[in-house]
Amino acid sequence: MKANVIVHKDFALSAIDDRIYSSFLEHLGRAIYTGIYEPGHPTADADGFRGDVIDLVRAINTPYVRYPGGNFVSAYNWEDGIGPREDRPTRLDLAWKTRDNNAVGVNEFVDWCKKAGTNPMLAINLGSRGLDAARNFVEYCNHPGGSYWSDLRRKHGWADPHNVKLWCLGNEMDGPWQVGHKTADEYGRLANETAKALRLFDRSLELIVCGSSNSDMPTYPQWEATVLEHTYDSVDHISLHMYFANVEHDTLGYLAKAEKLDRYIGTIAGVIDFIKAKKRSKRNVTISFDEWNVWYHSREADKKILEGDVWPDEPHLLEDIYNFEDVLQVGGILNTFIRRADRVKIACIAQLVNVIAPIMTEKGGPAWKQTIYYPFLYASLYGRGTALNAVVDGPTYDSAFGDDIPYLDLSAVRSTAGDALTFFVVNRHLTDSLDLSASLQGFAGARVVEHIQMTHPDLRAVNTAANPDNVAPKTVSGTIVEDGTLKSKLPPLSYNVIRLAL
Ligand code: AHR
Repeated sequence: MKANVIVHKDFALSAIDDRIYSSFLEHLGRAIYTGIYEPGHPTADADGFRGDVIDLVRAINTPYVRYPGGNFVSAYNWEDGIGPREDRPTRLDLAWKTRDNNAVGVNEFVDWCKKAGTNPMLAINLGSRGLDAARNFVEYCNHPGGSYWSDLRRKHGWADPHNVKLWCLGNEMDGPWQVGHKTADEYGRLANETAKALRLFDRSLELIVCGSSNSDMPTYPQWEATVLEHTYDSVDHISLHMYFANVEHDTLGYLAKAEKLDRYIGTIAGVIDFIKAKKRSKRNVTISFDEWNVWYHSREADKKILEGDVWPDEPHLLEDIYNFEDVLQVGGILNTFIRRADRVKIACIAQLVNVIAPIMTEKGGPAWKQTIYYPFLYASLYGRGTALNAVVDGPTYDSAFGDDIPYLDLSAVRSTAGDALTFFVVNRHLTDSLDLSASLQGFAGARVVEHIQMTHPDLRAVNTAANPDNVAPKTVSGTIVEDGTLKSKLPPLSYNVIRLAL
């Protein structure tokens, strides 16, 4: 099997916003408690944050972490998480049937972000609450002092404002499962009035309005059109979510679902353009894809808690154990965001620790990298700069989830400094290796620095606490640049990062 690719130094798709490598932490399962926060853990610092987890998060250099939900936020009182810990109430979280003693709230989360080398992106409850709680929350976080809420933050020990710039106006408000679910008109009006009030406080905030929870929702994509009719001139981004599953045990079909993500982004880009034109607006609303990942391995196990009445603390929930096949899927998803960098300005892998996450922990025990940690790590490290328009001519396949799916899934990124060119490449073929030939135009002197590769004889192979390096990348040789052409042989079912210096 062969594929030819052409890239030209000046044929750019778009600058890549670093924020597409953002992430998400929800008060859900063990994401916070025994995930990032576990006082008494051997690596915990004076604030109770796990040092082993902080090290793994710092390594992926994720620019923003969305918090505190997710479905959780739609019945959350942010005031429960501030002030002296002994005075904080223990609440029943309706979204995940869990008890939460609120030991971690917004101030602790902001502290953790600083330690982990990231920034907070906060979500507001527009399910059970509304504009008033939202404006108080923003004032508490961002006002320097001299007002009721900002002075309260200072009294609680945080003299400096948190200066949070990214605010989500609710979460998945199109979903009937959401506490306080609304119609598009009800939500659109509330989101717009909330956005207007927050802008009166600070015009520079970046506001994110809820789009669809996934592209199979019955209200999609009319939801986006109606919500943007209400909010177009008062928001900056529209949020989309999508999760992937291989319940059919059909690898080629599963990997084809990344193309569905591409169509989803394309459709919503069209809706944005339609509303912009209709309103004669000069504003460019962009996409915040603030929840995406593989999610299905744990669904059966979770029913015991989600359908019961136990209300546990820090339960094992949504603890998907990712396999090698998921590496290929996550690689394809990230390639899609890079190729759609003109419209997608924020994307959050959901989530970060323990809950459908690249990082796992054991209570009192180790933290380790799941298989999907690696494609996220490499995209975040080497996928910053400019997305190039790589023209691919190669074989395709038809599947139950889409036709004409390329076996070769590729994105190309020129670094911001212009000194590196990186290809992220998935060979989706089940049995055949692929001879890649990429004509490098305008890249005189390009040379291979490193070819990182992930393959495994077993698609179901996983990493565990006992065997954390079962699925891990290796550096391979044989990839060369000859007469301005990059040549490489990519094994079947492989994920590759080919790094060139310019
Ligand atoms: O990330 C898990 C859940 O998925 C989030 O709470 C919700 O927003 C989505 O449905």
